[in-house]
Amino acid sequence: MDTAATEAWFAPGRANLMGEHTDYNEGFVLPMAIDRAAWIAFRPRPDGRVRLFSLQFDQATEFDLEGLSRTGPAWAEYVKGVAWSLREEGRALRGFDGVLAGDVPIGAGLSSSAAVELAAARALAASSALAWEPRPMALRAQHAENSWVGMKCGIMDQLVSAAAVAGSALLIDCRSLATTPVPLPPGAAVVVLDTSTRRALVGSAYNERRAQCEEAARGLGVRALRDVTVEQLARSGAPLEATVRRRARHVVAENARTLAAAEAMRRGDAATLGRLLDASHQSLREDFEVSSPALEAMVACAQGDGAAYGARLTGAGFGGCAVALVRGADAEAFSARVSAAYRERTGLTPQAYVCGPAGGASLEALA
Ligand code: GLA
Repeated sequence: MDTAATEAWFAPGRANLMGEHTDYNEGFVLPMAIDRAAWIAFRPRPDGRVRLFSLQFDQATEFDLEGLSRTGPAWAEYVKGVAWSLREEGRALRGFDGVLAGDVPIGAGLSSSAAVELAAARALAASSALAWEPRPMALRAQHAENSWVGMKCGIMDQLVSAAAVAGSALLIDCRSLATTPVPLPPGAAVVVLDTSTRRALVGSAYNERRAQCEEAARGLGVRALRDVTVEQLARSGAPLEATVRRRARHVVAENARTLAAAEAMRRGDAATLGRLLDASHQSLREDFEVSSPALEAMVACAQGDGAAYGARLTGAGFGGCAVALVRGADAEAFSARVSAAYRERTGLTPQAYVCGPAGGASLEALA
């Protein structure tokens, strides 16, 4: 039997530069795809069966595209969920025999799940001869995560994984889904700093934060927190519970910071961008309360280094990664110094990656 894969599709993880917990409030985000990804190499099948082997988990699973159920290993639910979501929209799918691989650290806040979802969407689209459209496919993947996996995430991770442009971060308007590539300031580099601590998202405080934001929007009489400015919130006499008001204050200020960050990047102003990163972290710690002791230690080490313009936690928070904007020429030395300082402070072994903005989900040339 010929077992050679005929195609491999990859989809990247991401680091978010600015705009945390704003996407599900219909606001703005500024993520960039990173050169760590999920891959699916596969050979199409004429029928509706999917047979998939995960290299990371060293485990095989198989299922029929008809009558999907949540009975397999957890890693496979991201693939199955995308198939379910596409079928729910009436797409006719054909199966494949494939191998799933990836090097986005799992649960680190770098969107390993969106990477698997978009790699699955690309593989299913290719095996089923569906046209590839980044926005609708990102929405199908988000729907899979919301309704199949049960994590009420926004659109940021799926959309940047689908639509990133190499060399630029992507400003996303999460209401219109308009995307605008924005280059990094010349001479600046992004370093992702992994605390090596992890927190599962499903069933966690993430969904609770989202509910608090929705409560704030209802209390303020708007469709979403996107529709409120910092001044309007400060002046509003709406009877918001104190915690809910602080959650809203983070989101509203973070939207303004995200637009200011994109402007600073367009001007090539790394110093202003760095200050915005620091302010975002403070707001995530104090108002949104999604930092953790490990993230505090990492961000303090990064902010205290002379090569840094600024640093903040990235992704949902509670553990995982921070992101720092640093002088490009010093990025490797910065990574070594901050890793040593963090290890000294916490006893934990971190990882640091200097990341260039990568492109979105596409076909990988097979050797
Ligand atoms: C996770 C979610 C995103 C976003 C971030 C926080 O990564 O998947 O939709 O809400 O958290 O900004």
